[in-house]
Amino acid sequence: HGTSKINAQGHLEIGGVDATVLKEQFGTPLYVVDEQLVRERCREYMDAFRASGLGFQVAYASKAFCVMAMCALAAEEGLSLDVVSDGELFTALQAGFPAERIHFHGNNKTLEEIEMALDAEIGCFVVDNFNELHLLQAVAADKNRKVNILLRVTPGVEAHTHEYISTGQTDSKFGFDIGNGTAFEAIELASKQSNLVLLGVHSHIGSQIFEVEGFQMAVQRVAEFAAAVYERLNVAFKVVNLGGGFGIRYINGDTPLEVSQYVKAITDAVKNHFAQIGYAVPEIWVEPGRSIVGEAGTTLYTVGTSKDIPGVRKYVAVDGGMTDNPRPALYESKYEAVLANRANEAAQETVSVAGKCCESGDMLIWDLDLPKVQSGDLLAVACTGAYNYSMASNYNRIRRPAVVFVKDGQGDVVVRRETYQDIIQNDLVPERIAKQPV
Ligand code: LLP
Repeated sequence: HGTSKINAQGHLEIGGVDATVLKEQFGTPLYVVDEQLVRERCREYMDAFRASGLGFQVAYASKAFCVMAMCALAAEEGLSLDVVSDGELFTALQAGFPAERIHFHGNNKTLEEIEMALDAEIGCFVVDNFNELHLLQAVAADKNRKVNILLRVTPGVEAHTHEYISTGQTDSKFGFDIGNGTAFEAIELASKQSNLVLLGVHSHIGSQIFEVEGFQMAVQRVAEFAAAVYERLNVAFKVVNLGGGFGIRYINGDTPLEVSQYVKAITDAVKNHFAQIGYAVPEIWVEPGRSIVGEAGTTLYTVGTSKDIPGVRKYVAVDGGMTDNPRPALYESKYEAVLANRANEAAQETVSVAGKCCESGDMLIWDLDLPKVQSGDLLAVACTGAYNYSMASNYNRIRRPAVVFVKDGQGDVVVRRETYQDIIQNDLVPERIAKQPV
């Protein structure tokens, strides 16, 4: 992927930096982000939308990987930003992300979050439910402000990566259902609120999706809904946000499309379906997360112990695991890896890569072909840029790794490795529990 290659020493090199040098400089486990590849993905989205001739915003879904450097990079590339919590919003604002390009999501925004986002003058709230609609109107009125909103609707298309369930999606915690009329009701109510400016609707059908059909189905449903809303309520949508979910290649056999192909399929569908009903084609917003950062991330681990069970399996343990990458344990996600210090050697054995947490489910990769693995080898797991650091934990009080951006032969720490002090910084021991002498 991206700038990764095997160099003359037979080492994996990313962004022009030898992985063994990264280990020496920054230690392991280490999240390495190929900055050039992230920038290329941002540009592919922007260029493809520009080519469509439609009005658009590409909002990076920060949940995939939200740190200040990433927010700053997304801002620099002209993207907008999707945040889902006060923490993501705070990170973005601290990074200087232009507030008017921030969109606030979430199915249970608190009063504090709403006030914080209003005070920051963010660009848009994606309103999820009736409680939020009333709360936002009340707070906006209180502050004498006009607020842009989209309403999140469930279009009745749900992608389970490879399949689409196109019956109702009524059973979802998110959004207003189009199928049962709730979305109509919400539009009618929203359009009457004096402090809310209804820009349009938002729909998100799933994540890690390879085909375009689901997006096309969603566009069609939303277009039909837009037409019905216009007819019955005389309300027109200026914006349609189609969410994220564009798939990436984690392992051989994954068959994602190019970014430009996803964008073209969507923008063509928008032109067709909206033109068909004689509707002014709305601005199209999307929210890619995984497809911006996923393939750009590599996690470097040092191999420690191994356990060979003859005739059964060989376990090889690394110095990280489910604390830095919970996805295999949570979703049975598959990853590929190479020995970064011997990337030119042929595979000689099949091993299963275990983490160091105290539970059997802490496995990163089952049945991986590698050269003869030794303690001290450097294992590079590919495609860890999305939903790894952002979902990392301190389980077993393991410190979170550092994150390094590499580009043009240089590595810069964008998140420093946690310290022991970080681990206990919020701990307090009440007076009644006698503190033991250290
Ligand atoms: N917009 C909305 C409203 C979303 O809910 C999501 C993801 C996105 C955009 C970005 O989707 P992406 O382009 O990254 O697929 N933790 C899971 C993924 C959860 C995705 C949740 N929503 C994982 O590790 O696979």
